[in-house]
Amino acid sequence: MMTAPIILVFLLLHNAESSKFTIPEATINDIQAAFNQNKLTSKQLVEFYIQRIRKLNPIHRAVIEVNPDALHLAEIADQERKNKDPISRFGLHGIPVLVKDNIATKDKLNTTAGSYALLNSVVPRDAGVVNKLRESGAIILGKASMTEWAAFRSSSAPGGWNARAKQAVNPYVATLNPCGSSTGSAISVATNMVTVSLGTETDGSILCPSSANSVVGIKPTVGLTSRSGVIPVSPRQDTVGPICRTVADAVYVLDAIVGFDINDPAATRKASKYIPKGGYLKHLKLGRDNEGLSLLRIWQNGAILIENLEIINFNRIISMINGEDIAVSAEFKLALNAYLKNLVSSPVRSLSDVISFNKKYADLERINDYPQDVFLAAQKTNGIGKLEKEVLMNLAKASKCGFEKLMNDNKLDALVTPYSNGSSVLAIGGYPGISVPAGYDKNGRPYGICFGGLKGSEPTLIEIAYGFEQATNLRKPPAIKDQV
Ligand SMILES: *[C@@H]1O[C@H](CO)[C@@H](O)[C@H](O)[C@H]1NC(C)=O
Ligand SMILES: *[C@@H]1O[C@H](CO)[C@@H](O)[C@H](O)[C@H]1NC(C)=O
Repeated sequence: MMTAPIILVFLLLHNAESSKFTIPEATINDIQAAFNQNKLTSKQLVEFYIQRIRKLNPIHRAVIEVNPDALHLAEIADQERKNKDPISRFGLHGIPVLVKDNIATKDKLNTTAGSYALLNSVVPRDAGVVNKLRESGAIILGKASMTEWAAFRSSSAPGGWNARAKQAVNPYVATLNPCGSSTGSAISVATNMVTVSLGTETDGSILCPSSANSVVGIKPTVGLTSRSGVIPVSPRQDTVGPICRTVADAVYVLDAIVGFDINDPAATRKASKYIPKGGYLKHLKLGRDNEGLSLLRIWQNGAILIENLEIINFNRIISMINGEDIAVSAEFKLALNAYLKNLVSSPVRSLSDVISFNKKYADLERINDYPQDVFLAAQKTNGIGKLEKEVLMNLAKASKCGFEKLMNDNKLDALVTPYSNGSSVLAIGGYPGISVPAGYDKNGRPYGICFGGLKGSEPTLIEIAYGFEQATNLRKPPAIKDQV
């Protein structure tokens, strides 16, 4: 007799809880539930983000362009949901996505890697990953800002700087390097200017900004996601991946963008074998003895998981890795020239043209605040010659005799590193890594923890990253004073 009122109170509270939906911090799951309960439309979502970009972007400079058709695309998505079209059941249906400014979209948006040299260039088609986003029902909200030319123009330009959008600003500590090159992708999700975003990585460009802006970044095995239509650095190392607020959101996006692409056939065919049947979502599960918890303990004690493992010929392997720059410089010139030639129209058609453009317009919006030394070094290369071949052989050997041997001999699941310190090891071998928020130092500066593994180990890395995230729940949204 006495229990009835208590149950009633509980139900009332429960209802009040479940009817509360707010857009900032909402996950893909939250948003899809709100769509299904008719509490939210894609149009409202896009309107909210556009407002928020208007308000916050002048400070944070994370978005370089907003898609003028985003609202229209949202209305179409809302209509599809109303009509119960099959596409409305897909994972990203009606979800706004920002893609890094080096990822081509065949719409009104420019694709410029932050450079004036590519403004008004016309791309032949959507990038492979954009095509897959659209097939999954996502709405391209706009382009995320980035370190100009993915940090391959100037060695002195700070992370998140480009001539068009200028310096991106870290939402936690304004003076902290927001890191690059996928800076805008990380800041835009951190500050709730969008639900999810895409970044790209050659060496550290997803992992580092994810760590510095306290978000989750997945750097997939090279070839798991198509690089077609992505302004290249090194086809041997380049990869496209999600940057999101939660591991689950990142896995939704990963599921949408992986797979074979006719325009990046060799790499995507080869990596397709790694995609688990039914996708990656089923790996969002907690291990029996929740590994996340023991990792947390290790993390707090300041120990390094591999501390007792000896890396054979460590110094020799490190010196081999140091050849990365030589290889990438030559690869960059070849790949960029091929990309520029393939554009439908463009003010620049080669690396040499871009260098001339930068000289000619030295004063254009302080384009030459930072010298183009990386460009000039790349321009001096002459294909894959004797030196490059030797370096490439050494890089392959360093991966095989270093990282792969270490992982296999010790039967390890993951290499755990703070910040994005392990990025070069993962970069040169095309290995995957996931960065998850791991805390804030006494000055409020965020740092991440990175789980790296062998090619195709995404299912295991996702389980570990999810376990760590669920056990620690360390991410706190930045304190944005100017709330929208
Ligand atoms: C693309 O660049 C052109 C030239 O500056 C500009 O007029 C246009 O508005 C840009 N597109 C978008 C969507 O911002
Ligand atoms: C790891 O990264 C942090 C942050 O970027 C840096 O301060 C530190 O020196 C790095 N440590 C090593 C061993 O590279």
